[in-house]
Order: sequence, then C-alpha cells, then structure tokens
Amino acid sequence: MKKIPHPIPYQGSKRKLAPVIYSVIPRDIRFFYEPFAGSAAMTLFMAENNAAERFVIGDKFPSIIKLWEMMVNSPDQIIEQYSLIWQGFDGENHKYFNEIRDLYNETKEPAALLYLVCRCVKNAVRFNSKGKFTQSADKRRKGMSPEKMAAAIEGASKLLKGRVEFRIGDWKDTSRDAESPDFVYMDPPYLGTTIGKDKRYHEQLEVDSLVSGLESFNKKDIRFALSYDGMTGDKEYGPALPENLGMSRLLINAGQSSQATLNGLRAETVESLYLSENIKAPKNTRLNLKSTQQEELFP
Ligand SMILES: C[S@@+](CC[C@H](N)C(=O)[O-])C[C@H]1O[C@@H](n2cnc3c(N)ncnc32)[C@H](O)[C@@H]1O
Repeated sequence: MKKIPHPIPYQGSKRKLAPVIYSVIPRDIRFFYEPFAGSAAMTLFMAENNAAERFVIGDKFPSIIKLWEMMVNSPDQIIEQYSLIWQGFDGENHKYFNEIRDLYNETKEPAALLYLVCRCVKNAVRFNSKGKFTQSADKRRKGMSPEKMAAAIEGASKLLKGRVEFRIGDWKDTSRDAESPDFVYMDPPYLGTTIGKDKRYHEQLEVDSLVSGLESFNKKDIRFALSYDGMTGDKEYGPALPENLGMSRLLINAGQSSQATLNGLRAETVESLYLSENIKAPKNTRLNLKSTQQEELFP
C-alpha cells in the first residue's frame, strides 16, 4: 500500500485506524466532511484512495486550519518557514522551544505551531484559559526533519489542492450544508478529557449537543461515522449514546495502549466506531487493525 503523507503528528490522530474505518464506509461520496479534523488523517486516506470528489476540513482551533490552508495552497512557503525554525535550534532544548512558543502565542504563525506540535510532550496541544499554548518540550523529540516535513507537506498538498475547502468553527456550523450524497466523519475529543469542573453537568451538555447534531444528520439522511468511546483494559470512556439514533456500533481492536505500556502494564485499547442508520453495517462488528485491509467486510 502507498505511504500516505502526514505532516502533522497529532495526539489522537486516526492515522493508524484510517484503513479500518475506510473499510466500512461507502465509496460513492461527493463531499467528505471532517469537522473535527486535527491532522485530518481520514481526509488524507480518502483522498489518496480517491474515495470522495471533494473534501471539507474543519476544526474549532483556528491555527490548525490556517496551517492546513498554507500546507495545501502555499507549500513552499511553509516548508521554508518550518525549516528556518528547525535549523535555528541551538541545542538548548527548553529555551529554544519556549522562544518559539512565545513567538506562536504572539503571532499565531502556522509554521511555529507546526514546530511546537512536532516537539511537544505527546504531540498534544494544550492551552490555558487565555488561549495561550502551554504544553512543554519533550526532551526526546527533535521534531520532524525539514526534509521529511517537506516531503509530507508536498504529498498532502498534491492530494488535496483544488479539491478541499477549509472551515474554522464548531462542527455543527462547519458541516451544516452537508447533504445526502455527502459523508461526515467525526472524531470529537473524548468527553471527560476536555471538561474540568462540574464534569457530569458539562458532560451531559456535550452529549446532548452531539446527539442533537446527529439527529439533524438523520433527518437529512446524511451518512456519517463517529469515533466516540472505547476502553483500555477494563477502563471505559465516553458516556452511552441513545439507541433511537439507530446507529450500529463496531469495535476496533486498536492494539496495545502506549500509556499503559509506559506504566509497565499491558492493556488492549478498543475504540468504537458508530455508523449511521443509512449505512449497511458489516457482518463482522469487531474489526482488527491488522487484518481488515484485505478482508471483505461487507455482507
Ligand atoms: C481527537 S482530535 C481529532 C483528531 C483527528 N481525527 C486526526 O486524525 O488528527 C479532536 C479535534 O477536534 C477539535 N474540536 C474540539 N471541539 C470541537 C468542536 N466543537 N467543533 C469542531 N472541532 C472541535 C479539536 O481542536 C481537535 O483538533
């Protein structure tokens, strides 16, 4: 299989699971919407496989969409800027990282964000209440070399240029104009990891908002897939979703949890994928990361 370019190493990326998700979603798609895009792993996979005519990449985080816009439409410029930042590294790990972090917080430069994502702890972007990037440098990460980054950006640009639209905003707004020949893939942050105080109350609000968005897709007969909850070992995450949405739930064996491995434990991670009621669910509702690429999953 061809290697798919991935310029943004992003915590929670669906890069590894993309072939499995692809194996159960339709191919006759007009617009493929990814409104919780992050590193847009599913869009890249779909584009590489020509599984949709056009794409919509959306996210609530404005800088990541500006970064995408530059990577796709002005690849040379962002490659040069990233390379200059990378080469400026003077060996003083935290000091240099923090300088770039200050630069990003002041200017919101997409190239500075790309450098920070590549070099920060767990590739996980974190912000304080004022919207400042706060995550620290990971001593072991050097960041993607400029050569590797250039190849990834050029590859992504080639795949998407001229057939993608970028949108900043809440998922319900950015996917509002989807229609039945389209497809929406959603990968919201896990509830519970994003919510602080009054967790239960906020969690319920988030679930309610998600459910009302899914109901409006159902009303318009829009096909969708949702990565939502799962479990690592015995620990489950993600509150239940109502059955009247009519979705089918598939379980993907996502392999060993890297967090558990770091803690000296072995625990399998299982992620669930919900398919809308207007998609024929595969016979096999438990999917394996390794075996699905060749398997015929549809009944
Ligand atoms: C789990 S990540 C998605 C990762 C993505 N599937 C990938 O392959 O990289 C969730 C993303 O949703 C975005 N997000 C959070 N709340 C959102 C909202 N209400 N509407 C749109 N995007 C949102 C975050 O900024 C983050 O980039």
